[in-house]
Amino acid sequence: MAKEKSLYLKRNDGRKFDEVRPITAKVGIVPSADGSASFETGGTKAIAVVRGPRTLHPQHKQDPRTGILRVSYGMMPFSVTDRIRPGPNRRSEEISKVSEWALNSVVDLSEFPNTVVDVFIQIPQADAGTRVAGINAAAIALAHAGIPMKEMVSAIGVGKIDKTLVVDLDKYEDSDFHDGEGSTDIPVVITSRTKKIALLQLDGKISVPELKEAIELAKKTCEEILKVQMKALKEANRSEGKKK
Ligand code: CDP
Repeated sequence: MAKEKSLYLKRNDGRKFDEVRPITAKVGIVPSADGSASFETGGTKAIAVVRGPRTLHPQHKQDPRTGILRVSYGMMPFSVTDRIRPGPNRRSEEISKVSEWALNSVVDLSEFPNTVVDVFIQIPQADAGTRVAGINAAAIALAHAGIPMKEMVSAIGVGKIDKTLVVDLDKYEDSDFHDGEGSTDIPVVITSRTKKIALLQLDGKISVPELKEAIELAKKTCEEILKVQMKALKEANRSEGKKK
């Protein structure tokens, strides 16, 4: 993967350029919720809780043709070394919206007119890639809640540091930490069956051929992530089945 002319020759944590940080996923972490899950990559941890479908208030916001998905993303005050101010801000509102768009592309709420399904994503620990970790957690929490989905979604951050494409940037790599060309961060969400791009954001500079390569890298990595998500769902089904 490393290119001859690359200035970024070795990753700070020793990973290969196409290697994700250790991933874990767990389903059913909040038993009182309709659905819940956690998803971790290295030092980034996300939890997602699903409530609904329930009748949407105020009534004028209801849609008689379908239910509505509402996503709220937030970083906990202690999630990074500088305390995060509680409550919404521009960044959290943007991430809530883009996560909602990505999840909306696979969720089908047509059976539940006039209702809302709330997805609460919280980040207790952040080391870059929190929006993709949040989307991964939310997708499995929605499946756990039994919300009809056309397919799953898996998400990963890919990027470019100087001239090298890398997967799953940590905070060190996400920052402009040296004098090279700097780092480009590209969160990508891929649908599980049709392999469509449900979300792609781009923070930095990249050429069209490099972007195509980065998308291929994201697709390949999302296959790995999907396996972890599906395994967590199967484990939860097995243990919840035993309790019944
Ligand atoms: O987390 P994600 O990569 O999706 O979004 P970002 O806005 O590119 O943030 C990258 C990282 O910067 C976060 O994951 C945190 O580790 C860090 N961050 C921070 O330290 N303080 C903030 N107020 C926001 C983000």
